[in-house]
Amino acid sequence: MTTVLPPAPTTAPAGAAALAVALAVRTDLWAHRVEYREESRWTSLLDPADVADALDPSLHAELHAAQVWLLSWLPGQGTPLHDHGASAGAFAVARGGLTERVVARGAGRAPHQSTTDLAAGRVRYFGAHYVHQVVNTLHEPAVSLHVYAPRLTLMNTYRIDDGGLVRTGTERAGVDW
Ligand SMILES: [Fe+2]
Repeated sequence: MTTVLPPAPTTAPAGAAALAVALAVRTDLWAHRVEYREESRWTSLLDPADVADALDPSLHAELHAAQVWLLSWLPGQGTPLHDHGASAGAFAVARGGLTERVVARGAGRAPHQSTTDLAAGRVRYFGAHYVHQVVNTLHEPAVSLHVYAPRLTLMNTYRIDDGGLVRTGTERAGVDW
């Protein structure tokens, strides 16, 4: 009998983290594109063709396997608690600082929560179905680079209810943000 294994992810978390950091430090590649929105965080897709020449060739496989988003956050702006569907990836803080709250699902017990302040230069990488919330809790704007592989198609949103993680909705890429 033949066992069919799911395809291996094309980008390892460490590769996504390296790519996020490499892009975050190259402010010349994205600083002129950053916008800030009063209503909510601002998001923009980076075209791999615009940045590939500036990156070390060792990162080209990650770049072409992934999708890269540039985000800006005014003070107080943030995400709901969410996952990234089947996408894994990484994000790096390029300017300002962000606070990340991570919720680990507990099997039959209350989820474990942790909160970390991430200054510019910090990077976090994550696997599929990772649940977190990201907020700019500082008094200055923040910018971050987010790498997803496979590309981000949806985010499920959550709330914590009676100690459990409850899905509240789904935001679809290209429709809801
Ligand atoms: Fe996220």
